Amino acid sequence: MSTTTTTTTTTTSGFEAPKGNKDRTFGARFETKDLISFDENTVYGDWRDEFHKNGCVIIKNVISPERAKYYADKQIQWLKNFELGFDENDPSTWTADHLPISFKGGMYFAYASTHEKMAWEARTEPKVVEIFEKLWGTKELICSFDGMNISMPNRKDLNWSPWPHCDQNPERKGMQAVQGLLNYAPNGPNDGGLMLMRGSAKLFNEFFAHKRDSADHEDAPPPELKYMDLFLFSEKDIKWFEERGCEMIKCNMEPGDFVLWDSRTMHYARLPEGNQIRHVQYICMTPRAFANDEALEAKKKCFENWIGTTHWPHCNIRPTEDKPMRNGKICPKYRSEPFEKPELTEQVLRLAGVKSY
Ligand SMILES: [Fe+2]
Repeated sequence: MSTTTTTTTTTTSGFEAPKGNKDRTFGARFETKDLISFDENTVYGDWRDEFHKNGCVIIKNVISPERAKYYADKQIQWLKNFELGFDENDPSTWTADHLPISFKGGMYFAYASTHEKMAWEARTEPKVVEIFEKLWGTKELICSFDGMNISMPNRKDLNWSPWPHCDQNPERKGMQAVQGLLNYAPNGPNDGGLMLMRGSAKLFNEFFAHKRDSADHEDAPPPELKYMDLFLFSEKDIKWFEERGCEMIKCNMEPGDFVLWDSRTMHYARLPEGNQIRHVQYICMTPRAFANDEALEAKKKCFENWIGTTHWPHCNIRPTEDKPMRNGKICPKYRSEPFEKPELTEQVLRLAGVKSY
């Protein structure tokens, strides 16, 4: 692959120039237990029962198929706005040269994409917000400024292999964040998408205790990764979970469906192999009460400068200031504002953490 995303030290937003992972992380915290206690005996009579049992759940029909198509069309238009010759009907243009710079063949975080109007419209879809309100038992939520995924099937210019990981640092224990994605296109067995190790969230502590105590300890993440909420699993790790009853599942979804997963869950995104382009918006919300002033201040700066974050809404805020790199240089299409800015409604400002409830 000739194009990659790398880090530069140039900032435009008033953040300190990044020196290391610690300096790039605002509101860093490493809790050791659930931030909210859920009574294991509660029966909710809805998707929450499956979520609390398995650490993940697919929720059907969160938006209508028509609304999902609106978002898929918006995403295509966003790719075309770069004027790199991308044509959704011509697979010969489904290459890096004709597309903005992405991560893992389809995840977009740069170019202020995380603040495009379509991203904020998705975050404020009434039933999307309702999912997180129900989950956390509060209406006072903040959301992450996370990316979207637009993956073309059968790309010849990508070398890809599965990258099972979890997005919660092993030093943090308990249920801290619950990630989600809103799906816009038909997503069957050949259409790539989210792979989840069902049941792995509950084994998080046991797994990392075993990792520390076993001969595997040399695989432990290096200390500089402490502030990165990422742990990559090996083949051997996958087996460890499978031997304990977990199952790697492919989330098949229809347009308008939503999937939620506890951030301790092992997962990765598979590239599509059929004919269908994959269209997804990653969405994550947690209670505002989880955030401290440093995290809220960092979110405000991110929002005011159209900078993204990881999926964590309330802590370990890592502004994604890395500029998209194309053939060793900053992509000529680099931009620091959305093509279409969001409407700054009360709800948007509150979810962004800029305004209090
Ligand atoms: Fe992830």
